Amino acid sequence: MEKNKKQPGSDRDAGTICWRSPSNIALVKYWGKRKGQIPANPSISITLNSSVTRTCLKYARSLPGRGALKRFSFGGAENAGFAQRVGKYLDSVGDLYPFLGDYDLEITSSNSFPHSSGIASSASAMSALALCLTSMERNVSGSPSEDESFYRKASYAARMGSGSASRSVYPGYVLWGRLPAVTWSADEFAVPLNDNIHDDLREMGDAILLVDESPKKVSSSRGHALMEDNPWSRVRYEQAGSNSVRLIDVLAAGDIDEFIRITEQEALTLHSLMMNSGGGYILMKPGTLEIIERVRRFREETGVPAAFTLDAGPNVHLIYPVSFRESVIGFIKEELLQFCPGGKWIDDASGKGPLQADDETSK
Ligand code: PMV
Repeated sequence: MEKNKKQPGSDRDAGTICWRSPSNIALVKYWGKRKGQIPANPSISITLNSSVTRTCLKYARSLPGRGALKRFSFGGAENAGFAQRVGKYLDSVGDLYPFLGDYDLEITSSNSFPHSSGIASSASAMSALALCLTSMERNVSGSPSEDESFYRKASYAARMGSGSASRSVYPGYVLWGRLPAVTWSADEFAVPLNDNIHDDLREMGDAILLVDESPKKVSSSRGHALMEDNPWSRVRYEQAGSNSVRLIDVLAAGDIDEFIRITEQEALTLHSLMMNSGGGYILMKPGTLEIIERVRRFREETGVPAAFTLDAGPNVHLIYPVSFRESVIGFIKEELLQFCPGGKWIDDASGKGPLQADDETSK
């Protein structure tokens, strides 16, 4: 994790802060929530490396209580839809960052990957913004001064924008949601899990196979809401709890077979919950199922430990220990890219977490 470099108080009246924050892929899925962005169950993810959002926050002191978001641009162009969403988010975190009302803000943001393509763009976007706000707080008030409370606050604030974003402020494996077995775990913020990970599972590749890049038919917020009336929700929340406990043991033991079993069961469960929510909806495409079948066959025939997982969309994430990279990439090129229009995929991997990058402008 990158240290926040600025000295407290050095940019009290005006300044610019930039963070580059990655997306993450959940192994145990968060699906269903309670009021106040409290997750219905714990979730565990891997923070990625190259699927990132770069966000810069420029602030200048205004008259007390008269500050406002003056401009929001995404990918180099002003974006009214996103600006409205960010404006609402800033209002919702006003209690967390009480100084915000005294400053005019300009935010520029861009992604290294297509947004709404089934890659969790809200996770990278909201974590980048929350990190910028927490850095701004440190600049204008000197607090939070300790890195531990800095990241905890950023995770808490990121969660208010998008639950999965709470996990993106930490590198490696990250847990969000209260799990009695993990001392500091909480529903309000995520915690890193990297102290006890077996070497074989430490560095993971994530090949994101872009089966369909069109925007999702059913948003994640709608999907979470539909869980309230899902007849299987209680059982599902219990399953996610026990899968989380089990996965933590599996990560420590380096038990790759169990890792694969839990990861794939979670992906299929997520989509079966969608098929069983409301009137039922299907986000997978024929190419998704083709890839799943081929991944399982490839594993059986070669013994290469690659697991598929899915987010709330049709694209497939292929997760594998990086030591198997060569055979996995060969397999992707030979067998899987035929299901990705234009042969498009993202060659990603577990990463080092967000990076403060004030010297870099967001284009
Ligand atoms: O963070 P949200 O509200 O976009 O929900 C994300 C839900 C999943 O991506 C499907 C699962 C997860 O835990 O990331």
